[in-house]
Amino acid sequence: MSPSSPAREIPAVRLVEVSKAFGDLVVLDRVSLAVAKGETALVMGGSGSGKSVLIKHVVQLLRPDSGEVWVFDRRVDTLRGAELDAVRLSVGYLFQGGALFDSMTVGENIDFLLERHTRLDAAGRRARVEELLEWVRLPQLALRYPAELSGGQKKRAALARALALEPAIMLFDEPTTGLDPVSVRAVSELIVRLREERGITSLVITHDLLCAEITGGTVHFLHDAAIVASGDLDAVRRAAHPVLGNFFGG
Ligand SMILES: Nc1ncnc2c1ncn2[C@@H]1O[C@H](COP(=O)(O)OP(=O)(O)OP(=O)(O)O)[C@@H](O)[C@H]1O
Ligand SMILES: [Mg+2]
Repeated sequence: MSPSSPAREIPAVRLVEVSKAFGDLVVLDRVSLAVAKGETALVMGGSGSGKSVLIKHVVQLLRPDSGEVWVFDRRVDTLRGAELDAVRLSVGYLFQGGALFDSMTVGENIDFLLERHTRLDAAGRRARVEELLEWVRLPQLALRYPAELSGGQKKRAALARALALEPAIMLFDEPTTGLDPVSVRAVSELIVRLREERGITSLVITHDLLCAEITGGTVHFLHDAAIVASGDLDAVRRAAHPVLGNFFGG
């Protein structure tokens, strides 16, 4: 097998036996997870099961107590300073709760990243903002403030911002929570388009079955500080663990 064959390709994201506790509360207990390049992986689990804690490790917003975290060929849990910043810029992160800056327009929310981290001039940045907003199906909303957008529009605007620096990997923390089914569908379909049109690797936290169905990724179910089932949605739904029956409604 040649070294460049897909089967040997290093994963985009890899957690190796990651443990994390806050005081007496063990949130992750030797959790391992690999996301192949171009794959969509879904992390599901009950509220407080550690989904957000897990995803924060990918960009080292949290440091593991033990274990390793890799982004492609970089071991990020031992990185510091400029090297860590560079990895973080290559990973887009849609935070739980969106987190657009309310005092800036949608366009300014995106432009400040382009200004800081690219060499585009003002006209180039304007064109890039329009292109990003068109891609998330929000054309001509650059001058609106976040408060003037619907919940689904806010998620899509935040996604446009997360994509501004052309990340190879996208992290989504509850991208569809609180949205109506039409918006759930719109945001979920964007995750599919990221994979199909741009080859972007996504790690998506969700407890939304519609989102899981539409995005169709590999599901990893987190419970009691461990991944208790992995596979496609139907396989995980049918897995023997009793907590899965409760979660998926029997
Ligand atoms: N920085 C922190 N300090 C202390 N405890 C924390 C910290 N972050 C998370 N926790 C705790 O770790 C546990 C897991 O939290 P986490 O946010 O990962 O849950 P979650 O699975 O994302 O839940 P939800 O579905 O409600 O978003 C919770 O008990 C939480 O209180
Ligand atoms: Mg969470």
